[in-house]
Amino acid sequence: MSARLQTPPHAASSMTGAELQVHGLSAGYNGFEVIRDITLSITPGLTVIVGPNGAGKTTLLKALAGLIGRRGEVTLAGDTLPAEDATTCVKRGLALVAEGRQLFPQMTVTENLELGGWLATPAERARRLAQAFDDFPRLKERATQLAGTMSGGEQQMVAVARAMMSGPRLLMLDEPSLGLAPRMVDELLAITRRIADQGVTVLMVEQNVRKALAAADRGYVLERGHIVSAGTAADLLNSDVIRRAYLGAA
Ligand SMILES: Nc1ncnc2c1ncn2[C@@H]1O[C@H](COP(=O)(O)OP(=O)(O)O)[C@@H](O)[C@H]1O
Ligand SMILES: [Mg+2]
Repeated sequence: MSARLQTPPHAASSMTGAELQVHGLSAGYNGFEVIRDITLSITPGLTVIVGPNGAGKTTLLKALAGLIGRRGEVTLAGDTLPAEDATTCVKRGLALVAEGRQLFPQMTVTENLELGGWLATPAERARRLAQAFDDFPRLKERATQLAGTMSGGEQQMVAVARAMMSGPRLLMLDEPSLGLAPRMVDELLAITRRIADQGVTVLMVEQNVRKALAAADRGYVLERGHIVSAGTAADLLNSDVIRRAYLGAA
């Protein structure tokens, strides 16, 4: 069975979360469009985007986050996310964990987390920090450790926790498991699943296709700047196209 182009169904468990609507999105660099005319509806829950290197996955997340120019309409829970205005996107509830984490290595875990709450009042920032340490007990033990001295998996957790410090309605993650040991990949996917279950809409780009789809509600396949397939994660896991192209099935 091949996955058809369709709007995936809502996850019944998390109807309270924010929906991301993307219509006719195009973006690229130096006048060259890498992604073209993308229309998506990211419903509450955990959605994964897969696709080969160079397909435009990172470009898509950057365009949504207001980090690069784009054309098209983007709304989050009905609020417009403006093009090339990352600060307004954060204020309207979007958080991005970029490729490569981009922590401040010479700052402590706590300092890195506090930076994620820069738009919040000090009281709200303190409340979110306490919440982050509840959600990531491993980070609480290491609150005063310099971020640069932590393992790759721990640094990725700091990056996710820092993104959560902005109090997002939509959390986007760009290949969070890149370079991590299998056990850390599992832990990270469990964390993203829990965040989605708590009502934050999660949109994740992942190379670890099998594990990511196993944790997700829905998936999209992006190839050469276009969405070529969409469906429930279960349907995609079982589709011949996905199995052949991404899961190494004969
Ligand atoms: N800053 C940039 N300037 C010019 N071209 C870029 C830039 N970033 C990415 N590209 C090009 O855009 C295309 C898509 O890249 P990217 O979105 O990073 O793909 P993916 O994340 O799916 O691997 C590639 O051909 C890449 O070379
Ligand atoms: Mg990428």
